[in-house]
Amino acid sequence: MNQYNEIPTLQYMGSKTRIISHICEPIIKNKSIKTVVDLFAGTGSIGYALKAHKNIISNDLEYYAYIINHAILNGCDFSVTDEISFWNAVEQQSASLQAKVCTAVTTENKFFIDTVDYKQYQLFCEKTPSVFMPQSDDPRLKEILDLVDQVTPGKAPTVETPCLFLTYYANAYFGIAQCCQIDAIRSIIGQIEDERTRYVLLTMLMSVMSASASTTTHFAQYLKVKSKATCNNLIGKRKINIIESCKSLLAEYRQAGLCTADGKAPSVCYNLDFSNCLDSISLNNETLVYADPPYFKEHYSRYYHVLNTVCLYDYPAMAMNPQTHELSIGRYKEDRSVSDFGKKAKALGAFDTLITKCSNAGAWLMISYSDNSIVDISDIQALAEKRYDVLIEKVELSHSKQGRSSISKVDEYIFI
Ligand SMILES: C[S@@+](CC[C@H](N)C(=O)[O-])C[C@H]1O[C@@H](n2cnc3c(N)ncnc32)[C@H](O)[C@@H]1O
Repeated sequence: MNQYNEIPTLQYMGSKTRIISHICEPIIKNKSIKTVVDLFAGTGSIGYALKAHKNIISNDLEYYAYIINHAILNGCDFSVTDEISFWNAVEQQSASLQAKVCTAVTTENKFFIDTVDYKQYQLFCEKTPSVFMPQSDDPRLKEILDLVDQVTPGKAPTVETPCLFLTYYANAYFGIAQCCQIDAIRSIIGQIEDERTRYVLLTMLMSVMSASASTTTHFAQYLKVKSKATCNNLIGKRKINIIESCKSLLAEYRQAGLCTADGKAPSVCYNLDFSNCLDSISLNNETLVYADPPYFKEHYSRYYHVLNTVCLYDYPAMAMNPQTHELSIGRYKEDRSVSDFGKKAKALGAFDTLITKCSNAGAWLMISYSDNSIVDISDIQALAEKRYDVLIEKVELSHSKQGRSSISKVDEYIFI
């Protein structure tokens, strides 16, 4: 049993939940360290585990990660009475949106209840219109098409009821009723004045979306119906009631104290490139920077674009595939961030910047990286040893390959 606090957020590539003790133990033992900067915080698993022991500053380039870290480090004040009113408003909004597309929702429901030929559900999904494909000859989907016609990606919508998910991702990343539920929850969250409460509720919503999406684990692409088995798998995911799942998760968050402010000074959270973040905070010999940068050339902004979209809820312009000059299959938004750690030509330079900035300030530094990555472990070691006395720990891990069944063994290195 893990002795460190954990809280459910996202299924996340590179999450450190499996090696929390290897990271946290030496940090907690070192009493001269008062503050930990979780510089590439992701789901915030390390900051959350350490927050009972040290001051935490968190940072991540991705906006959704900033929101999650703010939520789990700082919580909010959200009374049970306010929560009841919140869910009443959500139920009403969801019912009103589902009524606007009732033929599509009723049809979807029939697929969920009756045993059907998978090809019929396949056709229904393929014909579902969206801003990426604003046409359909299926009369059962006409109501969705009417909404799609009122949305112009990249511009403020003219439609009265918020319907971003319904018009961008229905029968792609989520089912039709699920999109109505997500749009409803997001729009009622948007009406809450208190920022901390909005962040906790957005974290709840993202966490449920991450567990129920029609994907393997991330949002690079959605799953399609190709056989009876894939049809059953998708229907299983799309039957999940997002509102009910959010209610259960919020009860867990309440239990963990996230809905009752603890009166402590809030942890500072940043949404910056790591180098700008290091320039923004004062580092000294009582600070440890924990650096867990990306290992691979795929950017988190592509793998988790749907989460940024639910946070911003800005009806984003759509990205084109640079090779085919067609809209991207994964329905990505335009304007996604790219990280130097994901570029072969720049990653080692980024490590150099990280190590130089931390050592110039006299701060402690801990880096995690895996051995099958863009930069060789020996190159990081050489850079670090120019500036620090370095201790290296190797932890063997099994990784599933992006949702596929095969498992690979990876050595995870921790440089202290
Ligand atoms: C390996 S993950 C961190 C996982 C995290 N430790 C956890 O347990 O969830 C790497 C993170 O670095 C972030 N990132 C990538 N490039 C960045 C940059 N240049 N500056 C700050 N954060 C960056 C990504 O958004 C991602 O969340």
